[in-house]
Amino acid sequence: MASGDKIRVLIVDDVTETRENIRKLLQFESDVEVAGMARTGKEAIQISLDANPDVILMDINMPDMDGIAATEAIRSRQPAVQVVILSVQNDQNYMRRAMLAGARDFLTKPSVGDELISAIRRAGVIAQSERAKVAAAQPVAPAGGVASAGFSYGARGKVITVYSPKGGVGCTTLAVNLAVVLNNDDTRVALVDANLQFGNVAIFVNEQGKNSIADLAPRVDELDVEIVEEVMIKHAASGVHILAAPSRPENAEKVTGDQLAKILEFLRQIYAYVIVDTSSYLTDNTLAAIDESDLIILPTTQEIPSVISSQLFLGLLQTLGTERERVLFVMNRFDKRINITPERVAENLKQEVVAIIPLDEQTVVKAVNQGVPFMPESRGQPAGRGILQLAEKVRARVSALEADGEADRKDRR
Ligand SMILES: Nc1ncnc2c1ncn2[C@@H]1O[C@H](COP(=O)(O)OP(=O)(O)OP(=O)(O)O)[C@@H](O)[C@H]1O
Ligand SMILES: [Mg+2]
Repeated sequence: MASGDKIRVLIVDDVTETRENIRKLLQFESDVEVAGMARTGKEAIQISLDANPDVILMDINMPDMDGIAATEAIRSRQPAVQVVILSVQNDQNYMRRAMLAGARDFLTKPSVGDELISAIRRAGVIAQSERAKVAAAQPVAPAGGVASAGFSYGARGKVITVYSPKGGVGCTTLAVNLAVVLNNDDTRVALVDANLQFGNVAIFVNEQGKNSIADLAPRVDELDVEIVEEVMIKHAASGVHILAAPSRPENAEKVTGDQLAKILEFLRQIYAYVIVDTSSYLTDNTLAAIDESDLIILPTTQEIPSVISSQLFLGLLQTLGTERERVLFVMNRFDKRINITPERVAENLKQEVVAIIPLDEQTVVKAVNQGVPFMPESRGQPAGRGILQLAEKVRARVSALEADGEADRKDRR
């Protein structure tokens, strides 16, 4: 730590007296400074962004969002910020969840002054050395830093757009089922329907007619967790949060490319994966989503028009400066009787086919007509195995990009 730099602390607790007691205690430490105070999890996220503290002292039980969820949200946006959880319960389960969310330390309340101060100092040293590392090693800094218990600290959420220049090849099918498979307690998934005119993600999960992206568009410059949570549809069976397309096609034009980009940028701060479904027509919105993406999933079928359109699109991506390793080329509706094989397509387009999803009408068509994603139930069926293969490739590609320190296209520009 650079000598003379005070450790800046944010105190988060819903009880005024607790906040004040901690603040008074810290007043006596010459190397510590209170950078702010927050009363709720949501307030903590906002104040942390504004004040950019080194250390956050975080209560667990708070009225709106609990301290663990807030920790996860803050750590994904501000990887250098270190969180020390203060809990009334000395509960193993809480402790484990806190660590998974990216907390640095866990103290039981009421904690003695000395114990608290040394935890702050330890966390402060780490925060400041994380910041120094990022500043010093710009070109090759390993994004994300330390990984613990399978949770990649500090990694920003990844935007993954599913796009095909040919319609009807399975973008929505892939986007929906991939979202279901990638979503779990540690990696929360948002599914965005950017097929603004005739998007049907909500129909795939039988949640139509609710809020949509058109409700967020006018508020893109004042987004906060609360506004976003209000608009997202929570798909109960899978836990995936869905940002639906406007329910009427004439409302599509209410969302501009610029607004969509801002929405995706915000969502990636709260979700580990933001999966974007698109229409085959290349609109401003689709280009904005592609531009915002860490990965692009490009499905093709074994039909010449689809293969040729894919080739044209790969050429366009090259012109846009998108590297080939950001594209996951997928063969959908694969039928082994057709002699346009994945190998031949890959060779012709000079783009590896990373996953093959068989033609499996029994699984896929039934699911869409029932409005129930076929994952995870049909994981043993041909289409289900294909989706699992794709999910593995997504995870592997994300880790590879992170290891390259290049996970974020925006940061590299
Ligand atoms: N692997 C598969 N096996 C059988 N049927 C499939 C498979 N994948 C998709 N389908 C079917 O193909 C049709 C088109 O799929 P989907 O709607 O996902 O494509 P899309 O690319 O999103 O289309 P659009 O351009 O209309 O948005 C649907 O009827 C779907 O059930
Ligand atoms: Mg579609």
